Amino acid sequence: MTGYFIVFEGGEGAGKSTQESLLAAALTDHGRSVLRTREPGGTPAGEAIRHVLLSPEFDGLDARAEALLFAAARGEHVARVIRPALERGEVVVCDRYIDSSVAYQGFGRGLGPKRVRDLSLWATSDLVPDLTVVLDVDPVVGLARFDQRDRLEAEPVEYHQDVRAAFLSLAESDPDRYLVVDARRGADEIAADILERVLLDLDAS
Ligand code: TYD
Repeated sequence: MTGYFIVFEGGEGAGKSTQESLLAAALTDHGRSVLRTREPGGTPAGEAIRHVLLSPEFDGLDARAEALLFAAARGEHVARVIRPALERGEVVVCDRYIDSSVAYQGFGRGLGPKRVRDLSLWATSDLVPDLTVVLDVDPVVGLARFDQRDRLEAEPVEYHQDVRAAFLSLAESDPDRYLVVDARRGADEIAADILERVLLDLDAS
């Protein structure tokens, strides 16, 4: 595969979508073809699964069913959207991926990080990102940026603290494939750091 796969991870309110659009625009200016996408979702079936996962209508969904649905949406997304784009040589910028399942379902819901990761690796035929950018913010600060919360955002703050710790420990275990940035800084400053790292990696790839 000749493309490059970048994932943004982080807690609620970390500013992922702002950074994704700034990076996509900058890479386009550098002459790269960029595809932006998000999880769960990205295909009609994926968006239908997203509705089941995020709507307060399905409050109390069993934790294992939740983990399976995230993995199912991801398998569909990789097969139909992400892998074809990488095969065309594009840069794929994706909002959340396997690490979100490891952090939210594996640690947050206590299902176990290894099982949850293996489930998604199976679902995606082992597609892992070239680079994962973790936008790190204290959940108390991040959650304060929302008035209306979806089903997962409405979880207690301890759940979000576990999720934050999980992202940081995943990043620490593999520094070559992660960039952790302090999401309290100004958006332009953060965007410049991310672009610098991505351009270095793209030159080296
Ligand atoms: P979304 O509205 O896309 O939020 P955000 O802007 O924070 O990405 O909602 C996605 C929610 O689903 C978010 O609370 C994180 C959660 N999630 C999981 O629990 N597991 C997963 O595998 C993924 C991809 C997301």
